[in-house]
Amino acid sequence: MSDDTDIEALLEEALEVGRAAAGAGEVAHYIPELAKSDPSHVGIAIATVDGGRYEVGDARVPFTFQSVSKVFSLALVLREHGPEVLDEMACEPSGDAFHSIVRLEEEQGRPRNPYINAGAILVSGLLPGGDPVAKVASLQSFLGEVGDGAEFRVDDEVFNSEVETGYRNRALANYLRHFGLLDDPQQAVETYFRQCSISLDAVRLARIGLFLANRGVDPVSGETVLARADNRVLVSQMAMCGLYDDVGRFAIDVGVPAKSGVSGAILAVVPDRMSITAFGPALGPKGNSTAALAALAHLSRRLDLSLY
Ligand code: DON
Repeated sequence: MSDDTDIEALLEEALEVGRAAAGAGEVAHYIPELAKSDPSHVGIAIATVDGGRYEVGDARVPFTFQSVSKVFSLALVLREHGPEVLDEMACEPSGDAFHSIVRLEEEQGRPRNPYINAGAILVSGLLPGGDPVAKVASLQSFLGEVGDGAEFRVDDEVFNSEVETGYRNRALANYLRHFGLLDDPQQAVETYFRQCSISLDAVRLARIGLFLANRGVDPVSGETVLARADNRVLVSQMAMCGLYDDVGRFAIDVGVPAKSGVSGAILAVVPDRMSITAFGPALGPKGNSTAALAALAHLSRRLDLSLY
């Protein structure tokens, strides 16, 4: 990006577009702690591979990682165990909601992809560490590694809220256990709840997503975070499965790999250029932030970001 003034002005525009769209959504109610989020919050942060940093609006309002965490847990698991972990699941778009259980019966418990809850719970169980706290600690330290050494703490209120209400995710984990894909469903699902409860903000999320946009190399430290082939898995799965049953529309409107979460964040990755976080807790019917979708569509049009 050449002209900083233009970017600042464009971000202000995208913020307004996001704010206008926030009214069309509702905060997630099925996790009581998330229901307390302020639906009027909207923030955007951009980190470019060549060192640009931009933010606007509520880009430093904390939110929990939720499903965006699935990209980073898969990154660490691929790094630890290699691509064989993908033998346990498919890598295809599901066309189903993020927490869907319908295909598990027909497909012998094999998750459709690593970003739908069933696949992500399987991945959580593979994180290095002997118990959920240790497993998520390994993820937190990975985030520090790609996030300038920052600390990423778990929001205990959100974690407890997920534990209290997460019967559907427990059902998914038990299905995986039934079909022999998981040894310890309780441990895997608790790890999953915990990783979803890591607290961060749009600025931090854009920063930790930068290696994804730079073929697995952190452009700040110059360190290889992940083999290029593994990075390709993460990013291509974002393109195919990152927004669940909204992914086709998102491909048309925005056209870059992305991952959403029910706290209202969407991390979008523009290969070789930048990572963008758009945030707004009000969600549309598919569980994706209405503000973030609108803001990203605006940025994509104005910055010509679509890969298609
Ligand atoms: O599985 C759940 O209920 C959440 N903790 C995470 C789901 C989520 O963020 C789905 N993404 N849009």
